[in-house]
Amino acid sequence: MRSSAMRDLMAITARPEVISLAGGLPDTSTFPPQTFAAQMTRIAQESAAEALQYGPTEGFRETVDCIVEVMGAEGMLPDPDDVIVTTGGQQAIDLLCKTLLDPGDAVICEAPTYPGAIPVFCSYQAETIQIECDAEGMRIAELEDTLERLAVEGRRPKFIYSVPTFQNPAGVTMSLERRRRLVEIARARELLIVEDNPYGLLRFGGEALPPLYQLDGGDFVLYIGTFSKILSPGIRLGWAVAPPPVMEKVVLGKQASDLCTSTLTQYFVREYFAEGRWREYIASLGEIYRSRRDAMIEALNRYFPPQASWTEPEGGLFIWATLPPYIDTSDLLARALREDVAFVPGQAAYVDGRGRNSMRLNFSAGDEDEIREGIRRIGKAIEAQVELYGALTGKREQGSHHPGMPEREAEDMPGSGGAHDPADSAEGGDVLPFKKAEGA
Ligand SMILES: Cc1ncc(COP(=O)(O)O)c(C=O)c1O
Repeated sequence: MRSSAMRDLMAITARPEVISLAGGLPDTSTFPPQTFAAQMTRIAQESAAEALQYGPTEGFRETVDCIVEVMGAEGMLPDPDDVIVTTGGQQAIDLLCKTLLDPGDAVICEAPTYPGAIPVFCSYQAETIQIECDAEGMRIAELEDTLERLAVEGRRPKFIYSVPTFQNPAGVTMSLERRRRLVEIARARELLIVEDNPYGLLRFGGEALPPLYQLDGGDFVLYIGTFSKILSPGIRLGWAVAPPPVMEKVVLGKQASDLCTSTLTQYFVREYFAEGRWREYIASLGEIYRSRRDAMIEALNRYFPPQASWTEPEGGLFIWATLPPYIDTSDLLARALREDVAFVPGQAAYVDGRGRNSMRLNFSAGDEDEIREGIRRIGKAIEAQVELYGALTGKREQGSHHPGMPEREAEDMPGSGGAHDPADSAEGGDVLPFKKAEGA
């Protein structure tokens, strides 16, 4: 088992003077306290005994109805009997792993991947294989090569774990073309995909894309969702959607883990959805996060060195920044903490030590001023590293910012139906962490 880097960091960043760009915290201060008070009061007055009681392992049907409504907002139509309410999306990952994995099994995921999934794969002794991401998400050609290589060894991955929309940590979104290909591959090879989608509804730019679950219809795609980012992580409510043979085992796994998900918070969600304003609240979050993302990008342009690059997400909570290769962001973090600012070093998103010169930056938790100040402080720590490198090597790097996305991979070149101008693509284009384009 290994520690989740993010959890460790959260302990350090609890100090009030620290500006943390490390967490994945939604801004819960945006939730109206009067609404919370009114709903909890109603629960206390009308259903205290039930709300304080154990509930069914699968969750209450009323909670599942809310989940079906949320998934419907992204075009999905799950069978309510295929849904289990879990203690956050994190437990859904854990339960699917508990159900599906035997020691030594291969799991495929993105590089970088959600740092909180890695300790789960490790604890079930899976072999985690990471496929590079670029601006359009997981590189499907590399995935196919890997599947072939495994097949030659007589192996198949138990599942492919993907966060296709506003990925944690990279902020990138898998293109429609790649989504279709991924689902086709899963169907052709009878492979399971676990789609983890906490951020799909937190879009504040661009066009919505269909979730993998919708493209596949739920035959080969198991789905994980959560109320954490669209309502509150404190209520610890998430869910998994899986066909009956998988779900039967997931329910057994959950019985062994925690008997049932919090009854009290399921009652809260029921009350909240009955009010019918949940979409408005998400829309308001989108407005707030858009302006914070813009503030972060502006500050990155101002305070990060010219050799740095970063993603510009159209939703979600994270930007992924890549620094010159001689900067190790774990060392940088120690320096940054002395400046009272924190971020997640990129290495936390890889199983094999890659990602050393990258970092995950969160733009949802603090306001614009905090974000600007946080980036300024990190920029100062980077500057010290750059100067040290210059002094030691005599090399002074030149350049200007290139805050664009990494290039697409060659598989989406003309003829493969990609939506971009082929002139934008480069054979063997940059991956995450991606390099600045030559001369830019
Ligand atoms: C991709 C992904 N999956 C799962 C989770 C866990 O969320 P929850 O709070 O629902 O357990 C997170 C939280 O940041 C996440 O980013």
